[in-house]
Amino acid sequence: MDIRIIKSTTPSQKYRPKDSELGFGKYTTDYMFLMNYERKKGWHDARIVPYEPLKLDPAAMVLHYNQQVFEGLKAYSLADGGIGLFRPNKNIERMNRSARRMVMPELDSEVFLQAIKELVLLEREWLPTSAGTSLYIRPTMIATEPGIGIRPSEEYLFYMILCSVGAYYPEGFNPTKIYVSNMYVRSAKHAVGNVKTSGNYGPTLLVSQEAFMKGYTQVLWLDAEELKYVEEVGTSNVFFFINGELVTPPLNGSILPGITRDSVLRIVKHWGLTISERLISIEEVADACRSGDLEEMFATGTAAVISPVGQICYKGEDFLIADGKTGKLSQRLYDEITGIQYGLKDDPFGWRVRIA
Ligand code: COI
Repeated sequence: MDIRIIKSTTPSQKYRPKDSELGFGKYTTDYMFLMNYERKKGWHDARIVPYEPLKLDPAAMVLHYNQQVFEGLKAYSLADGGIGLFRPNKNIERMNRSARRMVMPELDSEVFLQAIKELVLLEREWLPTSAGTSLYIRPTMIATEPGIGIRPSEEYLFYMILCSVGAYYPEGFNPTKIYVSNMYVRSAKHAVGNVKTSGNYGPTLLVSQEAFMKGYTQVLWLDAEELKYVEEVGTSNVFFFINGELVTPPLNGSILPGITRDSVLRIVKHWGLTISERLISIEEVADACRSGDLEEMFATGTAAVISPVGQICYKGEDFLIADGKTGKLSQRLYDEITGIQYGLKDDPFGWRVRIA
């Protein structure tokens, strides 16, 4: 598809942060990608334009009933000076799965990838180069047709913005403190927990804020039916290393199928370690903490990468994990995944996609 590029006639007014100032999600770049959909015309008018506020009708359906899906992936500055993506087709597939669930139009995967490449290459000056930094890519689709009745929109906007980022958590790669929510849940089976839609995130803010006020970084979510089984941690999937077995909850419908989660499973199998996708109750985790069998716990996500957990609080009781330090397996996985992403290590799975 032909992507028109409309260049700004004035120099960028945006602040260029130093790599050490980045944090996560503050510094968007100069350009964005846009493409429109109408039922009769399909997707059309693919273009890259200067970053600016969107013009939306106040009755646009996304604003009222959350017909929205999004993704998150990163572009990495490779060790040899090139630019790489990590398994971008997985994000494209998931976005289309999310779109189907939300009755939204699918995107052509080649056009999607082409848009990512062209936008990242145009904005390559915004790609930071220090360890652990990247250009975060946020593809988003919203329902733009004005209408207050509840029905699927007939018009959509697909847009993509970029953001120079460092670590997601203020702790960086240092262990986080996690608060177990045994009152509120993130999602229920047969709802949309396995879909990347903004409606899954807003409702988590109340508990996250409560956890934050108590000194914790993130919330560990339990299942909606029994408040018994572990599902996710914060915006990430979760793993426990208990007595030599690496355990993560199975994708039961309410858990987001993370691409980093899938990568960890594949790497660990390749290493020949014991890995189980099985139900794990919060009581089993607490018991393993008490007995000292819980060797490590970590979260996985595109934004969070591999994020070790050093402490959890369940029903007022605090448990220290791996003495509050980064465990060996978490470190090994972080090194392996980031090694592949940044071109520092071999890529036995063919996950790195070089774009420059
Ligand atoms: C990601 O890990 O990419 C996410 O989308 C999580 C979050 C920033 C919403």
